[in-house]
Amino acid sequence: MKFFIDTANLEEIQEAESWGILDGVTTNPTLLSREEGNYKENLKKICEVVDGPVSGEVVSLEADGMVEEAREIAAIHDNMVVKIPITLEGLKAIKRLTAEGIKTNTTLVFSPLQALIAAKAGTTFVSPFVGRMDDIQSPGMDVVEKIVKIYDNYDFETEIIVASIRNPIHIVDAGIVGADICTIPYKVIKKLVSHPKTDEGIERFLQDWEKVEKQ
Ligand code: G3P
Repeated sequence: MKFFIDTANLEEIQEAESWGILDGVTTNPTLLSREEGNYKENLKKICEVVDGPVSGEVVSLEADGMVEEAREIAAIHDNMVVKIPITLEGLKAIKRLTAEGIKTNTTLVFSPLQALIAAKAGTTFVSPFVGRMDDIQSPGMDVVEKIVKIYDNYDFETEIIVASIRNPIHIVDAGIVGADICTIPYKVIKKLVSHPKTDEGIERFLQDWEKVEKQ
């Protein structure tokens, strides 16, 4: 499984990159709005830190505007991927961008059919939002499981990014259903190595080591 970080904050990205487990970054307009400075410059800086796909999102609602914005985002760096919402206009844009060789990440996906249609249009990545589905008592991982099955049945190359992750269990479940990628907020990714028995074990070893004769 690949790990992306779901943030536009450079310090968080640098810290996660230093752990050696980061494969990419996803952002969205909300995450970029929390950072100071020009969004294109911020995306460029992110690309210089992480050697992997970095998603930036369009905000146009019409295909022509989406394609125009996507070209600008793709021009920031070779690793840029363009997030397009799953709408009919989005589909048109995905088809055109795929033909131009621009990678897309179809976003705001909440159903297996949306994911199937995005894959048919040629999207590189698809992002089901599990947390937002769970929020309305509709199990998000069930949708991911169905997308995995459908993509396997028809050999689609589109990779599934489990997005809107709220807790470490989402990542375990994504692994069990066979999703390709999890995009994880900093506060969650930081927790992945934590276990109280590990902390307790380290403390006990250090205490006992004090009793060992070293010279
Ligand atoms: O970047 C898309 C997605 O991960 C957003 O997550 O927490 O705003 O539902 P959230």
